[in-house]
Amino acid sequence: MPTQAPSESAKPGEEGGFRIPDAGVFVSDYNKQIFKATRMPERVKILDTTLRDGEQTPNVALSVDDKLKIAQALDELGVDIIEAGFAVNSEGEAEAVKRIAGAGLKSEVCSLCRASTQDIDAALACDVDSVHIFLATSKVHLEKKLKITQQEAVEKAVASVLYAKQHGLVAEFSCEDATRTELSFLRVVHKAVTDAGVDRIDVPDTVGVMTPQAMMQFVSEIKKDAKVPLAVHCHDDFGMSVANSLAGVLGGAEEVHVTVNGLGERAGNAALEEVVMGLQAFYGLKTRINTRKMAFVSRLVSQLTGVAVQPNKAIVGENAFSHEAGIHVHGVLSESSTYEPMRPEIVGKERTLVVGKHSGVHAVQNKLKEYGLDLNPDQMKEVVTRIKKYAESGKKLDDAELLAVAYDVMGQEVEPAIRLEEFTVFTGLNFTPTATVVLNIDGEVRRASETGVGPIDASVSAIRTAVSKNIVLRQFRLEAITGGSNALCEVTVKLGDCEDEQLLALGKSVGSDIVTTSVDAMIEGLNRLWVHKLRSNGDKTKRKAY
Ligand code: KIV
Ligand code: ZN
Repeated sequence: MPTQAPSESAKPGEEGGFRIPDAGVFVSDYNKQIFKATRMPERVKILDTTLRDGEQTPNVALSVDDKLKIAQALDELGVDIIEAGFAVNSEGEAEAVKRIAGAGLKSEVCSLCRASTQDIDAALACDVDSVHIFLATSKVHLEKKLKITQQEAVEKAVASVLYAKQHGLVAEFSCEDATRTELSFLRVVHKAVTDAGVDRIDVPDTVGVMTPQAMMQFVSEIKKDAKVPLAVHCHDDFGMSVANSLAGVLGGAEEVHVTVNGLGERAGNAALEEVVMGLQAFYGLKTRINTRKMAFVSRLVSQLTGVAVQPNKAIVGENAFSHEAGIHVHGVLSESSTYEPMRPEIVGKERTLVVGKHSGVHAVQNKLKEYGLDLNPDQMKEVVTRIKKYAESGKKLDDAELLAVAYDVMGQEVEPAIRLEEFTVFTGLNFTPTATVVLNIDGEVRRASETGVGPIDASVSAIRTAVSKNIVLRQFRLEAITGGSNALCEVTVKLGDCEDEQLLALGKSVGSDIVTTSVDAMIEGLNRLWVHKLRSNGDKTKRKAY
C-alpha cells in the first residue's frame, strides 16, 4: 500500500494552520503529525448504507420511487458502493434493490444478506453486483441471539461466502459486533472467509462502543493478517462514529460505511458528509465524492425520510456556515478562514450572516445591503441598538423585522402602492384550487384569476399575474406559532425580480388563516419590492414599478 504524504502538498500557514490546495479547507497544523506516523490508502472507498442502515432509523420507511431517487443522487455524488437494501426482507425491499441494480448506475449496487443461501438467492434475484454478508461473532450475540457455537459460525460464514462467489458476486463480509468479539476469534473468521474467496472484510462497531484510539489500534491489528481490503462501519451511540471511522482509516481501512446525515439504527451511523470532509481536511485523503453536491443530497434525504437535519449539524446543518457574533462576522467578511475552516461552496452551502442579539454594525450593514438599503452611520447605529433590544426581549428576529426597523429609521415606510381590494379562493375535493384577486396598483385596478396545486399556490399565482410575471417567489416559509386547528401562523415570503438579480424584498404576516396570511405577506413584500425597484430605476419621473 503506498504511503500517502499529504503533508507535502499541504502549505504551512503562518498561524499553525495549513491549507490543502484546491480543497478549500484550512485546518490545524497538528494534524500533519499523523501523516508521518501512518500509512494510508491513496483513495478511500465510500459505501453508503442510507437505503439500508439509514432506513432502519426509527419511523423511516421509504417508497421504492424515493429509494431510486436517493440512489441516483448517491450515484451522482460519487459513492463507490450503494447498499440498496436487504433484499430478503420484503417484496417491496427486493423491488427497490432490483430497480436500483437495474438503473444503470456507475456505483456498485449491493444487498445486505445474512450468512444464508436464502438471503443470497434473494440478492441474486435482484441482479446486484455485490452482497454484504454479515454474521454476529461476539459471545453475547452467538450465545443469546443466534444460539450457535463459534465453530458453527465459522462454517456458516464460509458456506455463505463460497455460495456468493460461486454465483459470481463480489462479497464483503462483516463479523457483526466485531468490536466486542475476541480478536483471536475474529482472526479465525477473517482467515476462513478469506480462504473462501471474500473480496472485502468490514469491521463493524455495531453498538458504537469504541474510542478512536482503540479503533485505530484494533483495525491495525486486524490489518496485520488481512489479505483483502478492510472497511469500517461505525455507529454513533456515544457520538464517536465519525472519529472512529477516521481512526479506522488511520488503522488501515480502505473503505468506510456511511449514511447521509448520519441516519441509521438508534443514534445512527457515521455521517457521509463529515467522514468525507474529515478524510480530506485532516489527512488529505481523496474519495470519489463530489463534495459540492453534499448539501443537495442531504436536503433530498431529509425531505424524503422526513428526518430533519439538526441546525448545528457539521457540514450540512443550517447553521454550519452562519455567523452571528459581531467579532466573527467582521472576521469572516475580511478573511473567511478566520472563522470558517472550509469554504461553504465546496460542500454546496452558502455563508449566511445572521442578524441577532450578538450582531454588530458589519453584519447589519451587510444584511441591509443585500436588500439594497444603504444607511448612513447614525442610522446604522440606531438600527443596531433597536434590533439588539428587540432580540433581547426574547423575540425571534429575522430579516423581515430587521428591514421593518431599517425602514422606520430611514423614515421610508411609505404609503403602500399595492392594496388588496378583493380576494376569493375556492378549494375542495376533486376541485382545482382557484384564486381571484382584485388589486389596486397605484390607482389602477387589476383583476386576475389563477389555479394552483393548493389554495396558497393559486393565490400567489393570481397576485403575480395581476402585478407582474417578473416577480419571483424566492422563498416561502409558513410556520405554526401556536398549536391546535385554530393556531396562529406566520408567513414570510422573499420576493425577487427575474430581470434584476439584485432586487429582493421580504414580506411577513401573522394570522389565523394560512391562505389570507400568505396573501397579506405577499402584498407587504410586493410593496417593498416596489419601493426598491423605483429606487434602483433611479428615474424619479416614474411612479410605477410594475
Ligand atoms: O451495525 C452493524 O453491525 C450492521 C451489520 C449489518 C454490518 O449494520
Ligand atoms: Zn450498522
